Amino acid sequence: MIGRLNHVAIVVPDLAAAAAMYRDTLGATVSVTQDLPEHGVTTVFVELPNTKIELLHPLGKGSAIMKFLESNPSGGMHHVCYEVDDILAARDRLKQEGARVLGDGEPRIGAHGKPVLFLHPKDFFGTLVELEQV
Ligand code: CO
Repeated sequence: MIGRLNHVAIVVPDLAAAAAMYRDTLGATVSVTQDLPEHGVTTVFVELPNTKIELLHPLGKGSAIMKFLESNPSGGMHHVCYEVDDILAARDRLKQEGARVLGDGEPRIGAHGKPVLFLHPKDFFGTLVELEQV
């Protein structure tokens, strides 16, 4: 059911420093900084030949990743995102298998303008999983 790895997301305490590290030290192609107020994050995308790295920093007070940064002050891996062809079919199959879909279970429009869902990390060996319909 899952297809390509779309991205790995890393929460960072300093977005500019992280972007500079990926650009200057690792020699990667790095996007401009993008505020996504509806998701409570500011992002920078690192474009790799086979996938992307999503650098995340909390935006606003209610940001869902603020707690993560408080628990991991130097940053850390936050989620992996797998591509699916049909997000509603994927959701229904996962629910049938007993996996928990976060929120109200309805896909939201994610950072790339495409429908996404998040799956409970406890059902996936401690890793928050994002599904994106491509
Ligand atoms: Co993501």
